[in-house]
Amino acid sequence: MSDNVHLIDHPLVGHLQTEMRSLDTATDRFRSIAEKLGAILAYEALRGAPSKPHTVNTPMEPYEGVQLAGPITIVPILRAGMGPAAGMARLIPGSQVGHIGMFRDEKSLTPVSYYVKLPASIAQGVVLLVDPMLATGGSASAAAHVLKQKGCKDIRFTCLLAAPEGIERFNADHPDVPITTSAIDRQLNEKGYIVPGLGDAGDRIYGTVE
Ligand code: PRP
Ligand code: URA
Repeated sequence: MSDNVHLIDHPLVGHLQTEMRSLDTATDRFRSIAEKLGAILAYEALRGAPSKPHTVNTPMEPYEGVQLAGPITIVPILRAGMGPAAGMARLIPGSQVGHIGMFRDEKSLTPVSYYVKLPASIAQGVVLLVDPMLATGGSASAAAHVLKQKGCKDIRFTCLLAAPEGIERFNADHPDVPITTSAIDRQLNEKGYIVPGLGDAGDRIYGTVE
């Protein structure tokens, strides 16, 4: 595995991502797990994020602690990225949220961009780019390009499931952007879906059927 990919190896994560994949898992539970895994991904991806000294008074005496430095911006790739992003936003103090709208053309499998709205100070801090699925890698790679065009330097990509093909493509396009994932699956099928996978992440989070 490339040094730029961090696979979270933890029994709780293993349990949650296994439950999420199951056909027996209903929409509300799927969405809830996506949020929980989002928080865990954010926790892992923020290792080494800049912090600054911050002193508080405990009931006993002053304590010289730390505070996250600079804005932390969560950027879900719409629409499925909104699931894990919700868990990230609850976890990270003072976080802000940008949105990049992108869907995959079902025939060509290339990303189609339809919306970009980002906080003004995004380039001043860490950006957590999040999408449940890294399949061909086209959507994540295009979204990272958008962020770089806005001047973002510290981008960290997070996903629930990654295919080896997507990792290879993303690493080639963005060797400077680390990937944190809760699972690496076997391969893509002929329709560009991750197998064993979990199906269509957006449909499973929102209960829609194509
Ligand atoms: C899914 C997923 C990623 C993309 C991954 O989105 O959420 O954004 O496919 O595929 P790729 O790595 O091959 O680009 P989808 O196009 O289904 O849109 P949605 O989130 O609106 O459902
Ligand atoms: N997008 C999904 O939602 N699922 C896949 O398996 C691949 C791309």
